[in-house]
Amino acid sequence: MPSLSIVIASTRPGRAGEPVARWFIEQARAHGGFEAELLDLRAVGLPALDEPDHPRFGNYTREHTRAWSALVRGSDAFVFVIPEYNHGPAPALVNALAYLYSEWNYKAAGFVSYGGVSAGTRAVEATRPILATVRMVAPPEAVHIPFIDQRFSEAGLVPTDEMRTAAAALLDELLRLSSALAPLRRPGEPPVTRPASPSPPAACSAADAAIDVSAS
Ligand SMILES: Cc1cc2nc3c(=O)[nH]c(=O)nc-3n(C[C@H](O)[C@H](O)[C@H](O)COP(=O)(O)O)c2cc1C
Repeated sequence: MPSLSIVIASTRPGRAGEPVARWFIEQARAHGGFEAELLDLRAVGLPALDEPDHPRFGNYTREHTRAWSALVRGSDAFVFVIPEYNHGPAPALVNALAYLYSEWNYKAAGFVSYGGVSAGTRAVEATRPILATVRMVAPPEAVHIPFIDQRFSEAGLVPTDEMRTAAAALLDELLRLSSALAPLRRPGEPPVTRPASPSPPAACSAADAAIDVSAS
């Protein structure tokens, strides 16, 4: 069964991210397609990026980078539980993504976002290009929770039917993507190369091209 890490991106005391992530992991376990676990960026505790080299070289000099690398390498797919801060993503998430490269490659990633009226959608859209740059594949399906402060009762987070439906759709799509991407993640798998170019048709020979140029 593929593994899924549910990443809590907010690190603030009193964060909404933790109960939202705990709700989502229940959805993931009920879905049954993944071995799901929580990955809390506050507990991971990465400092602001302090590696000298670009992560694509894998020349990690810090113990915290090696530990983060092992955690991310061990996961087949990710769900980022993200708040919106100043119309953008949480800084701990941007920092954690920048630490690594090959560990993220060809893995499926989804979002559970929350905030005010925008439901964290601006943070999601600002994060998508970062995921694409580290070769992650993120489907459009997502859980977006507006006015997160109104979603809590004294008993905790009060999920809606829309949240549950969106979570199931996201998990279905992550499972499809994760299995489709698996061959690209296998170490030693030969890279897919394009077939050799066919010989050019007679009308496109070098001599014909020369005639066309001189006629123009
Ligand atoms: C620094 C900061 C900036 C925020 N900026 C936005 C924003 O641009 N849009 C929005 O919808 N909510 C914004 N909020 C509200 C947060 O989305 C909301 O407080 C949410 O609970 C934060 O997530 P957290 O509790 O997990 O840290 C902001 C909150 C903080 C602390």
